[in-house]
Amino acid sequence: MAAPERILTGIRPTGPLHLGHYAGALENWVKLQSVYDCYFLIADYQVSDYADDMARVRESVWEVALDWLAVGLDPERSSFVIESLVPEHAELALWLSWFVPLGRLQRNPTLKAEMRDFGRRSVSVAFFTYPVMQVANILLHRADLVPVGEDQLPHIELTREVARRFNRLFKEVFPEPEGLVGRAPRLVGTDGQAKMSKSLDNAIYLKDTPAVVNEKVMSMYTDPTRIRATDPGHVEGNPVFLYHELFNPDREEVADLEDRYRRGAVGDVEVKQKLAAALNAFLDPIRERRASRSIQPGRTSPRSNVRPGPALTSTTTIETR
Ligand code: TRP
Repeated sequence: MAAPERILTGIRPTGPLHLGHYAGALENWVKLQSVYDCYFLIADYQVSDYADDMARVRESVWEVALDWLAVGLDPERSSFVIESLVPEHAELALWLSWFVPLGRLQRNPTLKAEMRDFGRRSVSVAFFTYPVMQVANILLHRADLVPVGEDQLPHIELTREVARRFNRLFKEVFPEPEGLVGRAPRLVGTDGQAKMSKSLDNAIYLKDTPAVVNEKVMSMYTDPTRIRATDPGHVEGNPVFLYHELFNPDREEVADLEDRYRRGAVGDVEVKQKLAAALNAFLDPIRERRASRSIQPGRTSPRSNVRPGPALTSTTTIETR
């Protein structure tokens, strides 16, 4: 039987993960584990605009790893990779950068979009070359498939180009990976903005307590055209109902709420209370698994012989050399 294809995917550690990460990526990754040989990478070299805050980077690596364990990514079946603990990622990125024309990076649409979004006038060299780090992440592990959001596809294309060039110049070393774009659209924020994100302060985190989830849900943005509970409301594009669709397994309850909402026969408060209950039921087992895996501050891990990278002093489950 042929070995299963290898998957590598990654995330830059910026802090704890939220429902957007779950719906857009994690839910799918958990399923992929049973079909593929999966590598999940925490890209702590790719620290973007907070490289001056190593404490935050270190903390965020743990947050991401705990959230991964909490949602059911399983280091017994898959490999968790912390980028800085395998310095070959950096070595390969440097080596491969000899084979990437400068103009190729200057035309990178992801970089252009990020510069526009952040209103940056100047970027660091590392910000400019981080697509090459991503190429190295993928090629080092010889991945066949790379699950990513649509916005990351230009980086997969770059990876394919670099792999082709390298293979042609030397020998067939790297598979040419394919991007795997899931169906899940981007999750809207609690404020109705197109994207749930930490920087927009419109996120519900996987580790939020029930009280915090209640509070966030009760202040959610709903249908702006609806003033009274007796006004007919819009379900489509309404964030509260989008979340119901994704996270409330009680289809009958959701159908009933939608029907009454359209007729102006239910208030926002009831719809939100039921959403908060559904979200908390969904998050409870995740919170429990997270708590059971958390290490008390000050306790070192069983693998303290692992060579620490710049962003970590100790680690639990990693892929070592
Ligand atoms: N650049 C990706 C992002 O910002 C994260 C990432 C780093 C990644 N290395 C990777 C994704 C390798 C896939 C494969 O989302």
